[in-house]
Amino acid sequence: MTDIIVYDPADFHVHLRQGQLSRLVTPHVAKGGFNLAYVMPNLKPPITTTDLALAYKQSLEAIDPNIEYLMTLYLSPELTPDEIRKAKKAGIVGVKSYPRGVTTNSDGGIESYEVYDPIFKAMEEEGLVLNLHGEVPSDPESNICVLNAEEKFLPHLVTLHRKFPKLRIVLEHATTRAAVETVKTLGDTVGCTITAHHLSLSVDDWAGQSFHFCKPVAKYPSDRRALQQVIYEGHPRFFLGSDSAPHPIVSKSTATPTEGCAAGVYTSPILLPLVAHLLESFGALDNLQAFVSGNGRRFYGRTRGKDSPKAVRVVREKSKVEAVSELDGIKVAPFWLGKELNFRLGSL
Ligand code: NCD
Ligand code: ZN
Repeated sequence: MTDIIVYDPADFHVHLRQGQLSRLVTPHVAKGGFNLAYVMPNLKPPITTTDLALAYKQSLEAIDPNIEYLMTLYLSPELTPDEIRKAKKAGIVGVKSYPRGVTTNSDGGIESYEVYDPIFKAMEEEGLVLNLHGEVPSDPESNICVLNAEEKFLPHLVTLHRKFPKLRIVLEHATTRAAVETVKTLGDTVGCTITAHHLSLSVDDWAGQSFHFCKPVAKYPSDRRALQQVIYEGHPRFFLGSDSAPHPIVSKSTATPTEGCAAGVYTSPILLPLVAHLLESFGALDNLQAFVSGNGRRFYGRTRGKDSPKAVRVVREKSKVEAVSELDGIKVAPFWLGKELNFRLGSL
């Protein structure tokens, strides 16, 4: 088979960090073949206001001006309906909700949704998107742990959708069959992102391998199968959000008896060849364009890219994932380091 041309690839969930780490990883959006980045707000301190989001966007544009950055706010008690209206006017696209304590920089995350009803109402009116990290916090009393935290969250998704049927909601980085089935039953205002790594990993791959540890954790092989299947079917409300979440190698690899490793899998620099490789492995390569661009862009109303249409060539040629990137002593390692992909990016 010949090369594949993909138009306007868009990554609808990516962590571009701050400071030196941001300078190191932001250029990797383009390196991985993408020209749109939907940017997560879980910085230290989190991006809780329009002004912070605009300043963050400027800092990203100073690093790589050729990417279209769609900005988000971090859902927190500071947020007001007025701020939502201000955010909309400033071009901010979404609001990200992190349940408290479930993942990286989520200490300021939410404990209950009801208090945010006025915010959600304003978002519904203004057309901002609610991005949900869909896990409930672990709780030994209720037998909740990382393996069932997503499934236990799904009733919250259903309730939010019923209460605000016109609010566009994205269940981020789905990892379970239950999540896929739930999203399918909901209306057109509910979308769902799937990462590249969750199409590849299951529990056995991260238990004992810290570079495969992320939140939500990869689940059973049957869950992975459901994620693959919904892409194979070409369901229009499921699309790529890489959740590429770089951490310095030392934070991933130096677990001690008192401190665990950081959660996050880093896929940005190899993203498009990796997704092509994975989709081909389960017979869904024909849906590459829809999965990495069309479905997400339609959901977000961004069918035209910044300099549309931008074509990217994916060449069928074996390529080894070998780059550890480094800047000023900070090192990050990509997913699948040392492994071989069946594709590489080419020039047009
Ligand atoms: C993310 C990070 O490192 O910022 N980590 C992760 O495992 N996915 C946070 C998140 O999106 O949950
Ligand atoms: Zn994320």
